[in-house]
Amino acid sequence: MKIETNFSLKQYNTFGIDAKASRFIDIQSEEELVEVLQTYPNDSKFILGGGSNMLLTQDIDALVLHINLKGKKIIKEDDQFVWVEGKAGENWHEFVLWTIEQNFGGLENMSLIPGNVGTTPVQNIGAYGTEIKDTFDSCNAIQIDNQVHKIFHKEECKFGYRESVFKQDAKDQYIITSVQFKLTKTNHAIKTSYGDILKELEEQNCKNPGLKEVSNAIIAIRKRKLPDPKELGNSGSFFKNPIISKTHFDKIQVKHPEMPHYTISEHEVKIPAGWLIEHAGFKGKRFGDAGIHVNQALVLVNYGNATGQEIVAVSKNIQKTVLDLFDIAIEAEVNII
Ligand code: EPU
Repeated sequence: MKIETNFSLKQYNTFGIDAKASRFIDIQSEEELVEVLQTYPNDSKFILGGGSNMLLTQDIDALVLHINLKGKKIIKEDDQFVWVEGKAGENWHEFVLWTIEQNFGGLENMSLIPGNVGTTPVQNIGAYGTEIKDTFDSCNAIQIDNQVHKIFHKEECKFGYRESVFKQDAKDQYIITSVQFKLTKTNHAIKTSYGDILKELEEQNCKNPGLKEVSNAIIAIRKRKLPDPKELGNSGSFFKNPIISKTHFDKIQVKHPEMPHYTISEHEVKIPAGWLIEHAGFKGKRFGDAGIHVNQALVLVNYGNATGQEIVAVSKNIQKTVLDLFDIAIEAEVNII
């Protein structure tokens, strides 16, 4: 195993923050992972996947384990379904495209989400009316302190909106090594009702969309709205869409009747944080090298050399202004480290 010291993580986080790891190991096999955990049982560790959902605000004085396990395969199939597996270090979008090429359905609405397969269950990633939990079957993990292998089945993962057991009871205890999904082989549930998908397909004159067409439409929409991390550092949605009580919403709506909202249950309403941020005047604003994206106010961006601290300062400014204006607290979706 090769240990790098004082290693820049700039290429390893999609925000492009130049924080340093005191020690860094690129882990390429499960055997190597177990060996590292056994060799350094008492060292504090930091598990790094695709680096697409974190904001580094300081150097990391720990052993950084970059989970770079590769591989994808079909595990089993019957007439209707196929079970596929992606190793944790596989790029998510490439994995999605691989399933679509074989006409396996279920992941197409999550095309072009940055990050790796292994971190998708952690925050139950989702987009365009689909979440990981809809097709997730199980994942394999290694317990950090004793290197015991564990399989997490769907129910144990306790998935919620950008939530799972890996952010709660199991936090910092496991390293996910692979994820298994159950996908359709026939009768795909094509979902086009969310957001601009139908509009996009109509513009392309596509009447009977299949998996590939839906995926292409979503890729086109995302490319228009969301910055490519390779060109402009970012971490996707920086904030979660807040869920507030119906009573609270009714009060706010008197003052802001135009505020978009989605009913979650009899007592809860979800508000798009992007709308709140835009109407608080932040969309497209820039503070040094830190800013708010011009096409999507939910996304904070690094124009070049912003530090994590500068981006956090912008996020705090947004949270405070939104709270003062709308009486709604918005919470970061991104892990601030
Ligand atoms: N809006 C604005 N101004 C903005 C952005 C949004 O007014 O600058 C309002 C609009 O009214 C729009 C509504 O917000 O109709 C919702 O926006 P959009 O459909 O773009 O989705 P979102 O709520 O902003 C969520 C996810 C995204 C996911 C999209 C599409 C969260 C926090 N974000 O965004 O996920 O791609 O839906 O399904 O739930 C991510 O997590 O990194 C991510 C990009």
